[in-house]
Amino acid sequence: MKQDSLYRQPRKQVVDFAFDDAVVDVFPDMIRRSVPGYETLISLLAVLGYKYAQAGSTIYDLGCSLGASTLSLYQQVQPLDVRYIAIDNAPAMVEQCRKNLKKHMPGSQHEVLCQDIQHSPIENASIVVINFTLQFLPLEQRHTLLKKIYAGLLPGGCLLLSEKIRFNDVHKQSLVTDWHHAFKRANHYSDMEISQKRAALEHVLIPETPESHQQRLYNSGFKQVEQWFQCFSFVSFIAIKA
Ligand SMILES: C[S@@+](CC[C@H](N)C(=O)[O-])C[C@H]1O[C@@H](n2cnc3c(N)ncnc32)[C@H](O)[C@@H]1O
Repeated sequence: MKQDSLYRQPRKQVVDFAFDDAVVDVFPDMIRRSVPGYETLISLLAVLGYKYAQAGSTIYDLGCSLGASTLSLYQQVQPLDVRYIAIDNAPAMVEQCRKNLKKHMPGSQHEVLCQDIQHSPIENASIVVINFTLQFLPLEQRHTLLKKIYAGLLPGGCLLLSEKIRFNDVHKQSLVTDWHHAFKRANHYSDMEISQKRAALEHVLIPETPESHQQRLYNSGFKQVEQWFQCFSFVSFIAIKA
């Protein structure tokens, strides 16, 4: 696994973060050292998702990056006859994801599409995963996407939504940010790397409170919404279509 050193050198100007070739190269290392609980979350979401998988349906992974969620779900769901559609709008991610799924999911029905998830049709879905991706969409577009997902899910299907969140309580926000930086330091990111990455994400990753996410999920049609995972400011919700 290639080590993430993208922000190791001081930059005169830190530009907005983008999922380009340089990021793809180091992405597995970057996400594991930056998102506390990431590996646990990926394996548990498949255990949870498996309960909702339906034979003859489609499983979507929106903002799939290198396909971690799809690969994890495949491990659990494999005996069922399902189709997998993984979507990302970064060409370099899509290219590498195609190689990963081809290698690790031989004989399965899968497609990796290079698309903006805002324009992708969602149909006949038993599971939709959107892992740390809604946070990159413009705020005003998020409800439209969730309504489309709800409409495309089969009865009994579920949405698994993971996000970095923020807190309205200033003290809590600062406490949890401090824990997150401690996690990054423990994973050998320097203070300069932490601060340059933070600046790069500032206008790109817009976190919301857990209450806003839950309310939007209810407003999109879901009757049952549960936050099933939290590690510092990284959470995951399951929303079930009745
Ligand atoms: C933090 S990564 C997701 C990580 C991945 N789901 C995982 O669990 O390993 C966010 C991904 O969303 C993709 N993305 C962001 N906005 C998108 C959009 N509008 N349409 C499709 N993909 C998008 C990025 O290219 C990036 O690969």
